[in-house]
Amino acid sequence: RPVHIIGFPFAGGQQRPGPEEAPKWLFEQEWLHQMEKKGGVSKEMIQVTNQKCNQAQDKDILEGHRKGERNWNNVYESCDRLEKATAKSLLAKQYPVVFGGDHSQGIGSIMGMKQVWPQTRILWVDAHIDANTPQSTLTGDLHGGPVAYVAGLTQWGKKPVLSLKHLIYFGIRQWEPEEMVLIEQEKIPWYESKLCTVERLPQIKAEVEKYFYPDGKKQPYWISFDIDGVDYQQFASTGTPENQGIPLDFMLAFFDTFIPESVGMDLTEVNFLLSSGETTERDKRIVRQLIEKITDVVHREKPHYTLP
Ligand code: ARG
Ligand code: MN
Ligand code: MN
Ligand code: MN
Repeated sequence: RPVHIIGFPFAGGQQRPGPEEAPKWLFEQEWLHQMEKKGGVSKEMIQVTNQKCNQAQDKDILEGHRKGERNWNNVYESCDRLEKATAKSLLAKQYPVVFGGDHSQGIGSIMGMKQVWPQTRILWVDAHIDANTPQSTLTGDLHGGPVAYVAGLTQWGKKPVLSLKHLIYFGIRQWEPEEMVLIEQEKIPWYESKLCTVERLPQIKAEVEKYFYPDGKKQPYWISFDIDGVDYQQFASTGTPENQGIPLDFMLAFFDTFIPESVGMDLTEVNFLLSSGETTERDKRIVRQLIEKITDVVHREKPHYTLP
């Protein structure tokens, strides 16, 4: 399959400038141009309505504020464009890598993906549960809520597309109280970071399959990968860092294991404005390594399912 990198230059789901710059940085990299030249890689930048983060003093982007959540109109509009682009990419038999941007983008990418693949299961790799509603959020930041939107935990004018039975988390270690109540009530499986080791991956895969497909009939995955799921010691350029986290070597092996069974992914919350010097350089090399790894696996492996 060809890889289609969809840049989503958007910071409006949270309060720190920077995630909107990450796809612009990526699209200027010479190594990416080389990959495009070799073939099987293309890119597209989404035109968002307003890329800026939602700092409260910014009156224009406060427009559309819903009680409890800032900047809703902007998130809605921008995600609507991403929704269309993601569906289109999948219908063209490409493997979309939606490169953000903050994680509010999941509202758009997952809505679009579900139009083409209604039965996908979602592997959510993140330090956060991202299932806050306008009622449960403490920050008002919409990047803390995409799961709530796509699963219909809050009303917003579009029909829910995700069953909470079709979701598993990896790496979570921060949540608001109501998010953990949800996980417990719905019995959503989640793997602590310390369980995420390369050695345990075959076992994890077997557990994931047993949970999702008790009748043995497999469905493809969508991977929603928030870079803050990775250990902070190994990747620091992100807006809501939490201690500890998933080792990078696990993520690379995770890609080997799950990309052949997946239709596409999000890669979100990269923010190089929040690190400096050698740390930024290291993190830029890591993003390159991740993109190269994803591309290698997508190109190397035939999808383990039939294309639409
Ligand atoms: N739980 C916090 C909130 O709702 C942090 C969410 C961070 N989300 C993210 N995609 N980085 O504000
Ligand atoms: Mn913030
Ligand atoms: Mn996160
Ligand atoms: Mn997230």
